[in-house]
Amino acid sequence: MKEITLDDMRVHVGQEVLVRGWLSNKRSSGAIIFLQIRDGFGFIQAVCSKSEVGKDAFEEIGRLTLESSIKVWGKLIEEKRSPEGYEIEVTKLDVLCLSPEDYPIQKKRDGSSHSISFLMDNRHFHLREKRQWAIQRVRNTIINSMYECLNKEKFIKIDSPIFTPNACEGTTTLFEVDYLPAWEEGAKTGPKVYLSQSGQLYLEAAIMSLGRVFDFGPVFRAEKSKTRRHLTEFWMMDAEAAFYDHRDNIKLQEKLTKFIIKNVLEKNKSELKILARDTTILKNCLSKSFEIITHKDAVKILQKLGSDITEREDLGADDETILTKQYNTPIFVEKYPKEVKAFYMKEDPKDSSRLLCSDMLAPEGYGEVIGGSQREDDYDKLIQRINDEKLNMDDFKWYLDLRKYGSVPHSGFGVGLERYIAWICGLKHIRETIPFPRLINRIKP
Ligand code: 4AD
Ligand code: MG
Repeated sequence: MKEITLDDMRVHVGQEVLVRGWLSNKRSSGAIIFLQIRDGFGFIQAVCSKSEVGKDAFEEIGRLTLESSIKVWGKLIEEKRSPEGYEIEVTKLDVLCLSPEDYPIQKKRDGSSHSISFLMDNRHFHLREKRQWAIQRVRNTIINSMYECLNKEKFIKIDSPIFTPNACEGTTTLFEVDYLPAWEEGAKTGPKVYLSQSGQLYLEAAIMSLGRVFDFGPVFRAEKSKTRRHLTEFWMMDAEAAFYDHRDNIKLQEKLTKFIIKNVLEKNKSELKILARDTTILKNCLSKSFEIITHKDAVKILQKLGSDITEREDLGADDETILTKQYNTPIFVEKYPKEVKAFYMKEDPKDSSRLLCSDMLAPEGYGEVIGGSQREDDYDKLIQRINDEKLNMDDFKWYLDLRKYGSVPHSGFGVGLERYIAWICGLKHIRETIPFPRLINRIKP
């Protein structure tokens, strides 16, 4: 008898095996009971017949409730008619925990489906569903691929802080944390502390030591609106490289994206099938170059498509949707007007009103998944931008120092992991991409 996990059933065909897992469905037809079992690694059907397990055990199996945890012994066989192509002919079954009858996420009698808010309230159970299982496994592949690709490109993983004294991505979405005591003389309250919106500024310091670095961690934005693209807590991978210019930066994002897609297509075939993901576009991305269009040209295209966007406006979510429905690979929109982007981006030497920046927009209506730029490496210009944005100069003293002592041209970008997953998995809403989503109206479970 060999204990197995259900990711490698094929090699155990014909053997007597033990599987430990949960009962996800049950159906009986007289003298036979069909159990659908999952063990965290895969899924299998187990067949119990009265003659094989005996009358008492058969009755006990008949009383099994959904999501009970069990140990199942039996012979693993190939069976074309069963959902996974394999089956266990049960000889023995032990119950570890018999769940109450009222497992919340069951098929409803009237055939209607559960509401999103019900599923999210029961996210601790919802995660057990096959689709959710598949999404988290794709998430894992994407995270590992980012590490692998960037390590290959000589980037070192470092960690940036979560508590920060200043804004990286504008003050409107800052999360203030009220915890520091008043330690400065005469102060009634402690210094202000915020949760990080992006580790970028710290990476800019670290490249002066390590050349190329990346971080990966949770970031926070006090987003005020409910949309299918916004979480208040999400995971970002920031990458930063000394001596990379705007073009090098875009090239790396394309390379990284192709690397990730190739890995997901290879490693997550069954997950993509469970998600009913049409992989044509993903495959297409591997062989095509991603188009680069200027913000100016994007506006012209959008106006033709019926948008009321004007020349110096940022692309709204709707604009990104209609624009990216025209493409079947990601595209880069570059050189946005200064007034719509962050203070640290480098001015375009050919047009001082625009920036050497890019957003990578995913096709099929998904829109921005990566934001990046060459950074302003000129001390005086950076001071000007900090003033223009009315940011507190004092908070950025250390950051400005980087432009005084050994300043170099450098660039970087940030991948919004959950938006990336939503696109790769073909999901309508970002909330399913993260195990426990945090939204403006959701903090539980
Ligand atoms: O475009 P953003 O704001 O760029 C930065 O934070 C830069 N400092 C990154 C860098 O250059 N190192 O955010 C980066 C990405 C976006 O492209 C988007 O995919 C994602 O983060 N993002 C969000 N994802 C989920 N919920 C939100 N509220 C998000 N806001 C941004
Ligand atoms: Mg952005």
